[in-house]
Amino acid sequence: MTEQQNVRIRRLDIIDYDELIELWKRAGLHSLKAQGRDSRASLEKQLASGVQTLLGLEVEGQLLGAIMATHDSRKGWINRLAVDPGHRRNGYGAQLIAAAEDVLHAQGIPVIAALIVIGNAPSLALFQKMGYVEGDPGIHYLTKRENDKV
Ligand SMILES: CC(C)(COP(=O)(O)OP(=O)(O)OC[C@H]1O[C@@H](n2cnc3c(N)ncnc32)[C@H](O)[C@@H]1OP(=O)(O)O)[C@@H](O)C(=O)NCCC(=O)NCCS
Repeated sequence: MTEQQNVRIRRLDIIDYDELIELWKRAGLHSLKAQGRDSRASLEKQLASGVQTLLGLEVEGQLLGAIMATHDSRKGWINRLAVDPGHRRNGYGAQLIAAAEDVLHAQGIPVIAALIVIGNAPSLALFQKMGYVEGDPGIHYLTKRENDKV
């Protein structure tokens, strides 16, 4: 790790949206739904729900990473983890996961899950390093959507 000075993780709010969406785009986040559930209006609603927490990692005031932590009262989910491509392998992804876990544990959530697209080796390696283990490989992941933007 080389960039540990002035690293700060803080809660993001809708006021941070423009910076956040730019980061997500730079990071090449798979399945970003900028017109759907990652739109400003949608995120605003999610943040108001009380179960969605958005965290950002800043270095010298610049947003270099972000993560979402949410739960359904039984299980927590980590979503939209992203680190700026120019600042990877500095431990920022790991710090963001640890911070998201702290939030969920404080909310009384004992199980945390993440979905990782097949072939995303960096993300898989990171979550495994953080202690996440693959459950039943025979599970089918099904979704039903109102449309292809959400
Ligand atoms: C996945 C991602 C968030 C990792 O962020 P990061 O800040 O580079 O990760 P860290 O520096 O905290 O990595 C911690 C550990 O994870 C593993 N790891 C991370 N990136 C890796 C890579 N490219 N190859 C192999 N292992 C990797 C390593 O074990 C690493 O520890 P080490 O550097 O001491 O070897 C980043 O690559 C990213 O934003 N990718 C694009 C968006 C994305 O795929 N998000 C996840 C969606 S599920």
